[in-house]
Amino acid sequence: MRAGADARPRTAGPDASARPAVATVHEHITDAVKTPDLIRLTGDIVLARFETMKVYAALGAVRSLLRRGRVVPGQTLVDSSSGIYALALAMACHRYGLRCHIVASTTVDATMRAQLEILGATVDAMPPSQSLRLDQELRVRHVRRLLAERPDFHWMRQYHDQVHHEGYREFAELLTAALPRGPLTVVGAVGTGASTGGLARALRESGRSVRLVGIQPFGSVTFGSERFEDPEAIIAGIGSSIPFGNVRHELYDTVHWLDFRHAMAGAVGLLREHAVFAGLSTGAAHLTASWEAARDPGRLHLVLGADTGHRYAERVFTRHAEALDPAGLRPRTIASPADLRPPWSVMEWAGRAAPEAARTVEGDAPSPVPTVELLP
Ligand SMILES: Cc1ncc(COP(=O)(O)O)c(C=O)c1O
Repeated sequence: MRAGADARPRTAGPDASARPAVATVHEHITDAVKTPDLIRLTGDIVLARFETMKVYAALGAVRSLLRRGRVVPGQTLVDSSSGIYALALAMACHRYGLRCHIVASTTVDATMRAQLEILGATVDAMPPSQSLRLDQELRVRHVRRLLAERPDFHWMRQYHDQVHHEGYREFAELLTAALPRGPLTVVGAVGTGASTGGLARALRESGRSVRLVGIQPFGSVTFGSERFEDPEAIIAGIGSSIPFGNVRHELYDTVHWLDFRHAMAGAVGLLREHAVFAGLSTGAAHLTASWEAARDPGRLHLVLGADTGHRYAERVFTRHAEALDPAGLRPRTIASPADLRPPWSVMEWAGRAAPEAARTVEGDAPSPVPTVELLP
């Protein structure tokens, strides 16, 4: 029998469900969805399970820009997104009376697209590209072209503008109130780096000792796995084929690289073992945290669960019979990205700087003023 297919009770701590719940009336949906549910998976592992994690990033950024007078109500915010940031930005714009324009990749599905349109966001869907790199470059070029035509648009630059780290302070405060004091290991997948970076910085500034464990797919330039290919992993919304200024490499203690099948094993395992339906990056983080926690018993581990499983239903969950058994999976420990090998590698990153190919040099990160030379 597969692990977790039996019928034993699975709560690790005392049963709090008998106590009456305290409900809050929220003034806007963003206040409700921004806050994750904290779920104990084991004695040493707590999952922060978001409906959509980017609400902290988008709300924090929009509030900060409004406060500093960088944008004014009625203005249009534009950005390119392949997933959950688009919706979070549209919701933040809805809340603060701003307009929203999204340059979307083909991974923005019909459900997301319909929500964006009904929210009043305008959407430019880019044609499918042969690779993630072409897709990301095409979208950035399109934004630059738009800005040349509409200088009143504000480019959010979620990949580069540190303003996207700010909202995660609120998340850090929530964790400080909810988790016992003491050292913490934060385990999360890295896309723009704003969630893991913003959270770790805020928690460390508050005096907590935090070990930060980042997760990457194979095929991402961010931590040096670009020479591999794992096309299915792209759907997780993590990693990148272009350098991101928002990834602060020096914040990460450990990096894990996992392939699609391992992320899938973690996601299916999370549902099977803990009844939590979450996306691929959460699956990767869950598998990673289980391994990390087994090596460091007694230390609390926090898993970031960025989204629900709905977007991955066909590619992951309906294929559950093919999922690997997490109990049999182990990473290969490496000393340098040169030794990287699929399907799962781990390295003590120890605050190293960005690899050469992931550095954003002056003039490389998009500037708010469109540079005509880069137009096709
Ligand atoms: C599903 C999912 N998980 C994780 C991440 C990583 O978040 P961040 O961009 O804050 O690094 C993203 C980013 O888009 C995502 O879409």
